[in-house]
Amino acid sequence: MERSFFWEKMAERYSKTPVADEAAYQKKLQVTREYFRPEMEVLEFGCGTGSTAITHSPYVKHIQAIDISSKMIEIARCKADAKNIENITFERSTIDAFTAPDQTFDAVLGLSILHLLDNYDEVIAKVYKMLKPGGIFVSSTACVGDKMKYFKIITPILKIIGLRLNVFTRKELQAGMTDAGFKIDHQWQPPGKGKAVFIVAKKA
Ligand SMILES: C[S@@+](CC[C@H](N)C(=O)[O-])C[C@H]1O[C@@H](n2cnc3c(N)ncnc32)[C@H](O)[C@@H]1O
Repeated sequence: MERSFFWEKMAERYSKTPVADEAAYQKKLQVTREYFRPEMEVLEFGCGTGSTAITHSPYVKHIQAIDISSKMIEIARCKADAKNIENITFERSTIDAFTAPDQTFDAVLGLSILHLLDNYDEVIAKVYKMLKPGGIFVSSTACVGDKMKYFKIITPILKIIGLRLNVFTRKELQAGMTDAGFKIDHQWQPPGKGKAVFIVAKKA
């Protein structure tokens, strides 16, 4: 399976770094929670050190949380164990390698991750298939193409240090969602330069 030495190296520091915009993070958690029901099966891909899955865990039945980095998963498991949380399964997996039957999940979370994937449109289509009808895809994505198109020039350099960055606009991201069959149910971008676009997209 593909590895990411960048995220392996970053994991320890990532777990200790405070969220950049706490108010926006809390708002996204709150909006997401309004969609949750206690019987829901949830997938989170690119779960990092598990903070979001842990926060959401009391409100759903089960969360399958995956990440490309074994170090991220190790830290996430420790955090969940320390809180005696039993309804999250952490697994080291890329979103490409992860398989689940069609219509398995009620909700899929992909937070700060779509812009890190070369094939974000394929991943959106995969998420659509894995969701039950009426299921939701919650994403928060840096649309770097809106403000910093020149980033395209440095993406090959970032790749050398193991960081992938896909430069696309908010419009292109929205098109990726609707082309896959999603209907955008909620959309929000906090004020300020380069803030991530938060989208809740619904499978019809
Ligand atoms: C910017 S962090 C976001 C972590 C977390 N979702 C959050 O919002 O704090 C991106 C995460 O995605 C993971 N990641 C990167 N590429 C991935 C892939 N192809 N499949 C699964 N996880 C991936 C990284 O290891 C990292 O933990």
